[in-house]
Amino acid sequence: SGAASSLQHACEPSTYSDGDYADVDWDNLGFGLLPTDYMYRMKCFKDGKFEQGQLSRYGNIELSPSAGVLNYGQGLFEGTKAYRKENGCLLLFRPDQNAIRMKIGAERMCMPSPSIDQFVDAVKQTALANKRWAPPPGKGTLYIRPLLMGTGPVLGLAPAPEYTFLVYASPVGNYFKEGLAPLNLYVEDEYHRASRGGAGGVKTISNYAPVLKAITKAKNRGFSDVLYLDSVNKKYLEEVSSCNIFIVKGNVISTPATKVEERVISVDELVNVDEVFCTGTAVVIAPVGSITYQDKRIEYRTGAYSLSGSCTQLL
Ligand code: COI
Repeated sequence: SGAASSLQHACEPSTYSDGDYADVDWDNLGFGLLPTDYMYRMKCFKDGKFEQGQLSRYGNIELSPSAGVLNYGQGLFEGTKAYRKENGCLLLFRPDQNAIRMKIGAERMCMPSPSIDQFVDAVKQTALANKRWAPPPGKGTLYIRPLLMGTGPVLGLAPAPEYTFLVYASPVGNYFKEGLAPLNLYVEDEYHRASRGGAGGVKTISNYAPVLKAITKAKNRGFSDVLYLDSVNKKYLEEVSSCNIFIVKGNVISTPATKVEERVISVDELVNVDEVFCTGTAVVIAPVGSITYQDKRIEYRTGAYSLSGSCTQLL
C-alpha cells in the first residue's frame, strides 16, 4: 500500500542471504523479548529540544533512582513493526502516525517529544541496525518499541528536568498463545481501563500495569484476554488489554468511538452480532470465538472479516 514506507537502504536482495540472519528458531517465535544488537538513544535537557541521537549496543541503561519515570510514571511507549519483503526490503507501516501519537501523549504527560522526523529516523535506524533479526517473510516481524521517559531526577511531583527517547527492537511472532485461533474474551466489570479526564486516551506506560490484575484473573479462568467496559455507564465496550475491538453485524464493522469509526457499543449488543475481532500492532488481527459476560458465554463464528487479516496484508 502507499501507506507503507520502504527502508530504501535495507533493499539489497542480491547480497542478502540465509547466512545474514540471526540465529533464531523462526518457526517458533512468540511475543517474547529476544534482545537484538542495537538500540537508539537521544536526550533532551532543559531547553525542550532533543539532541542528535545515536545507536549503541543493546543493553541495560543507567537511571537515577529519582528519575521521573520510576517515581511518577512519566513515560510513554509506542509499538510499530518492520516487515521483511521477499526481495529483502524492510517495510514500516506509517511510522509518522506513531510519532504523532507520541507527540499528543507527550503533551498530556508534560513531556517534550521528538519531532516527527527525529522519531521516524530513529525507528528506521533501529530497524536497519537490527536487520538480521527481522524474521523471514511470513514468519513474523521485527517489533520496534520507542520509549519516551522522564529520566531526570525529581522528588516533589513535577515534570522531570531531563528526558530520554529510546528505541529498541525484538523479533516477534503471534501475540497470543492461541496463534491465529479464535480468542475467548472475558468482560471485566470490576476494573476499568480509562476514565473521563484521565490519561486513557494516550499511550502512557501507567495505563498498562493496572490491567495486569484483570488479565491474571481472566487467564486463571482459562480466558485469552479481558474486554473492558466504560467506567461511567459500565456498559459500553472500550478495548481489550492489548488491542482494539471490532464487531461485525451484516456488512457493517463497528468499533468504539475515538478509534476508526465512531459509535458507542453496548455490552448488551454482543448477543446480537455476527462476528468479533481484535486489532493492534502487537496483536495484528485476532478473531474472537467467545465473550463471557456475567457468566454467560456468547460464541461467534470467525470468518469473513477477521481471518482475512494476518500481518502482511498491511503492505
Ligand atoms: C502494541 O500493539 O504495540 C501495544 O501497544 C500492545 C502492547 C501491550 C504489546
